[in-house]
Amino acid sequence: MKRTALVAGAGGFIGHHMVNFLKARDYDVRGVDIKEPEYEPTAADDFRILDLRRREACIEATRDMDEVYQLAADMGGIGFISGNHADVASNNILINAHMLEASELNGVARYFYSSSACIYPLYMQNTPDVGGLKEDDAYPAQPEEGYGWEKLYAEKMCEYYDEEGRIPTRVARFHNVYGPLGTYDGGREKAPAAISRKVALADHGGEIEVWGDGLQTRSFMYVDDCVEGIFRIMQSDYSAPLNLGTEELITVNGLVDLVANVAGKTIRKRHDLSKPQGVRGRNSDNTLLTEVLGWGPSKLLADGMKPTYSWIYEQLANAEAQARRAS
Ligand SMILES: NC(=O)c1ccc[n+]([C@@H]2O[C@H](COP(=O)([O-])OP(=O)(O)OC[C@H]3O[C@@H](n4cnc5c(N)ncnc54)[C@H](O)[C@@H]3O)[C@@H](O)[C@H]2O)c1
Repeated sequence: MKRTALVAGAGGFIGHHMVNFLKARDYDVRGVDIKEPEYEPTAADDFRILDLRRREACIEATRDMDEVYQLAADMGGIGFISGNHADVASNNILINAHMLEASELNGVARYFYSSSACIYPLYMQNTPDVGGLKEDDAYPAQPEEGYGWEKLYAEKMCEYYDEEGRIPTRVARFHNVYGPLGTYDGGREKAPAAISRKVALADHGGEIEVWGDGLQTRSFMYVDDCVEGIFRIMQSDYSAPLNLGTEELITVNGLVDLVANVAGKTIRKRHDLSKPQGVRGRNSDNTLLTEVLGWGPSKLLADGMKPTYSWIYEQLANAEAQARRAS
């Protein structure tokens, strides 16, 4: 018999790619979300629109599932999460509390939770030139307001369920995931997609707005590495949280230059210091991940941004052609 897997958040960026990954490994996949995937039809065998803040919806979603991949969250880029603390914290804690309880009730064999690098203490991320964050650095805690506190508490809930033998859990802390089929406009997009959109819309020699002074640093992980990492962590016997990201640190200005280079354009930057820019510097330390899995994300940013930029460019070109036809 095929193994069954639930992907919660299958209408979203990573969830949609996760469904494809599991289908390619012959899983029987159920996808659940409050919306259909935006950019292409789902490959899930069974896709249901359910609001996972509701306990009954979580019970329906997890019924008859061997594995649960919990990727549903009310989230977005730094502009969105820093402006919606109450919604983000309350919606996500409802989803995560009900999903764990429902998974136990339905006898799910294993549960994956998608945490974030936003759980790491702000006091360790005050300079662009940061060392990688290790899993143990999470405490004493001072996570990102709203989103980060909720993620840290949901990690703890997974730990308690696992420790008490109620349901085996696995947890990864993602560091900035990017790739094709991710949100690129509307306010929830992340830096790589937002910068790609701005560069695609700018003329050669033109100017784009950059949030902050552009000296803030991050590392970015290609979505194919992310879903492979999720699967490997899920199959491993390691239940404590693991970083899942790359150690390739780059400034936001560097990211703009890289995207401009992919696009073949010269682009000037106009820095807007009034916009949220998040922590000053953040990087992953993959020592533990590599030790546990014997594997780590390997796609270089310059390689991953090529298909990402091309996909966003195509979306924008199609939208423009459609608008021209309609007028
Ligand atoms: N993308 C990143 O860089 C990143 C970084 C760190 C952590 N994460 C985590 O990874 C997971 C997936 O992120 P993503 O980038 O795919 O985000 P996404 O926003 O594309 O996907 C999340 C999905 O959850 C769905 N959702 C929200 N509320 C729901 C509800 N009440 N019921 C059912 N579905 C609901 C959304 O509709 C969306 O489709 C999330 O837990 C996120 O916090 C992502």
